[in-house]
Amino acid sequence: MNPEIESQPRPRVLSGMRPTGALHLGHYHGALKNWVRLQSSHDCFFFVADWHALTTHYQDRQSIERNVYDMVVDWLAAGIDPEQATLFIQSRMPEHAELFTLLAMSTPLSWLERIPSYKDQVSRPNAEGATYGLLGYPLLQAADILIYKAAYVPVGEDQSAHVEVTREVARRFNRIYSPDRAILPEPQELLTETARLSGLDGQKMSKSYGNAIAMRDEPAVVEEKIRTMPTDPQRVRRSDAGDPARCPVWPLHELYTDAQTRADLQQGCKSAGIGCLDCKQPLIEAIQKEQQPWRERAADYLANPKQVHWIVEVGTERARAVARKTLREVRAAMGLNY
Ligand code: TRP
Ligand code: SF4
Repeated sequence: MNPEIESQPRPRVLSGMRPTGALHLGHYHGALKNWVRLQSSHDCFFFVADWHALTTHYQDRQSIERNVYDMVVDWLAAGIDPEQATLFIQSRMPEHAELFTLLAMSTPLSWLERIPSYKDQVSRPNAEGATYGLLGYPLLQAADILIYKAAYVPVGEDQSAHVEVTREVARRFNRIYSPDRAILPEPQELLTETARLSGLDGQKMSKSYGNAIAMRDEPAVVEEKIRTMPTDPQRVRRSDAGDPARCPVWPLHELYTDAQTRADLQQGCKSAGIGCLDCKQPLIEAIQKEQQPWRERAADYLANPKQVHWIVEVGTERARAVARKTLREVRAAMGLNY
């Protein structure tokens, strides 16, 4: 082994999730699975973006409070290893808010006003949702990323605009305050390959559409949800031939069942050789099998809430050391180290 290569620091990855409720299979396949994969090869920082949740749910304090540690349990259940990854909570890190404030001074308003989620809110008849906090959402996200000098940001497609703004903010900061040595590196986004998972009705899986299977749903609940899923609308009777291409169940098969099983099911569907419940059975089993280790790990942590708090405590202090160091450089570059 070449000691020089061995001592190379692992590239840093940073990502966050808003605590808006029990995580579902869409979160797992769209994000968490990727986090688990990255944790052994990268220096991963994962945090609960509770301030970001407040930008839209500021009247909803109970639900955020309940969801913060519950989401950390979902992460651990999915296989995030606190020995490898650093886990923390955004609101425990006022350093993010300081960097956000400092970056705000040089960020043109137009960069934030053109972000789609803010534009949507402004265009509504009742513009109360277009808060100052929501306008600042992408800049706060930029501070989250830049304060750790993250090289990579694994996110879904819906976050691309925010990572792009982050790069622009970093570039501008470096040009104005540290032209000789870039203090804030421009991060790259890592797009998750399963960009969207379809839910029980064929639309994108989302808690707000009520079409989600939670990561920790009980086996009987999963069975019931899949059994009552709508199928090919043209397959009204058992004797009607169907077509998987028209069926909302099929995208789940593409993720969960192997090619051979799928070929058999497709043939059975098109020839009316099988019923829809026959078709759904292997899917139900595959999802239940995937969930079993999640439920087991979660049960251990739920029986031991102090351990979860301790994991976050350790992560927060680890994150703080990095954040403070960056802030010292930023303050100095801006002429604030008196
Ligand atoms: N905006 C992200 C989301 O809604 C969450 C988030 C906040 C985030 N800060 C971040 C993601 C920094 C990546 C990096 O999913
Ligand atoms: Fe959908 Fe399967 Fe029924 Fe065909 S057999 S309509 S693919 S559930």
